[in-house]
Amino acid sequence: MREDVQPGLRVLADRKRFRIGTCVSAPLLQWDPQYANTVRREFNVITTENALKFAVVAPKRGQYNFSDADAIVDFAEANRMEVRGHVLVWHSQLPQWLANGALTRSGLVEILTTHIADVVGRYSGRIAAWDVVNEAVGSDGAFRESIWYKMIGKEYVDLAFRAARSADPTARLYYNDYGIEASDEHAEGIYELIRDLKQRDIPVDAVGLQMHVDMNESKRIERLPAAIGRLRTLGLEAAVTELDVRMNVQEHPTAEHLARQAAIYRQVLRFCLQTPRLEACVLWGFTDRHSWVPHFFPDQNHAAIFDENYCRKPAYDALAEELAGPSPSSG
Ligand code: G3I
Repeated sequence: MREDVQPGLRVLADRKRFRIGTCVSAPLLQWDPQYANTVRREFNVITTENALKFAVVAPKRGQYNFSDADAIVDFAEANRMEVRGHVLVWHSQLPQWLANGALTRSGLVEILTTHIADVVGRYSGRIAAWDVVNEAVGSDGAFRESIWYKMIGKEYVDLAFRAARSADPTARLYYNDYGIEASDEHAEGIYELIRDLKQRDIPVDAVGLQMHVDMNESKRIERLPAAIGRLRTLGLEAAVTELDVRMNVQEHPTAEHLARQAAIYRQVLRFCLQTPRLEACVLWGFTDRHSWVPHFFPDQNHAAIFDENYCRKPAYDALAEELAGPSPSSG
């Protein structure tokens, strides 16, 4: 593992007009200078990790808190980066007043459409892409039994995309989910949902593939071309929106672990670079110092391209090599 060197991934990505990104935390941008400097040097796109989630933006009914989101958008503008807004409609990270409130269907429709109009409207022209709906499909391929689905029905997805389009007609609107590259009922359900949306002219522009990969599941990556191929026949763009590669290693990863991890990062980015209309590769965090992984998978860690001391790992070098390589012909 080597110390940081210039020029960083973003310079290489800019030369290819490719978006390389990470999610960011507003408090860390403010309090950890090494974190902020690394984001500045390495990425040309940032996603709001938690700052625009419903519970953060609307902790009390009728009261917004945009301080973290404003800080991230300001940071991006000061550093000439694009922002991905994550996330408008999700079953998770909802405020208590919404998750446990006594609401009617029409009341919830009003909450949903007002929220999107206000949040997207506030950043109109400043947030380039939105994860409008996240993880609407359950593991059986049917609609997930979220509060949105249970109270509004599947129309909530249409309402969300229409509200987002009308609040900012220039933003690219994403349906975002995990496991899109799998060949199972969940992936099939996602495809059917998106096909139905496109058929009915609901304004969905693109599909976001989360790609939180366990290092032992590298086979998943091989299915990417087929999954993206059929989505593109629907006229959709796509992006990898939440890439990380975690491993089950208690102490320090060995060189072999790091090489296997690097190979997966490389494979995903190479696929992005080779695929027309696959517009970005966004990492879900970039340093093991600040990682969501151990909180959610207690036995797993080391998922990022920098270690806990901000030293580059072989995964970083793999991404840099791919970005520095010759451009594939576009089509
Ligand atoms: O902000 C509070 C803080 O005030 C409190 O002291 C602390 C105590 O636990 O919690 C803090 O909130 C946490 C928040 O992250 C910020 O750190 C939440 O508990 C925690 O649940 C939340 O986790 C986030 C998770 O989504 C929520 O489901 C992760 O940071 C975030 O990386 C993760 O991101 C998701 C994407 O949105 C959707 N796709 C999957 C991805 C990974 O799970």
